[in-house]
Amino acid sequence: MDSHTEKLKKIKEEVINLTASPLYSYRTENHYHPVIGEGDHYAKIIFVGEAPGKNEAEQGRPFCGASGRILDELLAAAAIDRKTVYITNIVKDRPPDNRDPLPAEIDLYSPFLDRQINIIQPKVVATLGRYSMAYIMQRYGLSGELKSISQIHGKVFKTTADYGEFTYIPFYHPAVAAYQFSMRETLKKDFQILREYAK
Ligand code: URA
Repeated sequence: MDSHTEKLKKIKEEVINLTASPLYSYRTENHYHPVIGEGDHYAKIIFVGEAPGKNEAEQGRPFCGASGRILDELLAAAAIDRKTVYITNIVKDRPPDNRDPLPAEIDLYSPFLDRQINIIQPKVVATLGRYSMAYIMQRYGLSGELKSISQIHGKVFKTTADYGEFTYIPFYHPAVAAYQFSMRETLKKDFQILREYAK
């Protein structure tokens, strides 16, 4: 097993055994799985969503339900093969009733995300939604540029992690496009910026 895969496997084991999580009993009572992440362990681009939904928790895979179908469409529109990127969330267990992640949940799970980023060492971190946007910007020295997602979606920021420089790009969450055609077009247009980084 290569070193990235080995380190990511360790994260998986830790999250599986995260009995301290307020979402742990909800996971086990419903026979759900935590969703650690999926894709290329040496990816140039990491996508960070918010938290797994029902389909994701049932399958243990990120973005495999309705939002996932939109994400697949957005990736295809930017000529990016899903297998070449890594896809994860800040919160690794499903919150009840699809509610937004709570600050305590973000605090508990975000160190796993930071480790995933430092292991994979992507050129680009792309967030999907405002919670992952706020987390990444505050965590990686971009607090001063944090605005509402309607103001900064699709914009390119440069910052650094422990391993070196990376590009940060916030996107709307694909779910916003489910019932709004204009949002889907905005997302598709924003995703075009990724073409140059996927090469
Ligand atoms: N929404 C998310 O934020 N993440 C998923 O994995 C699925 C839906």
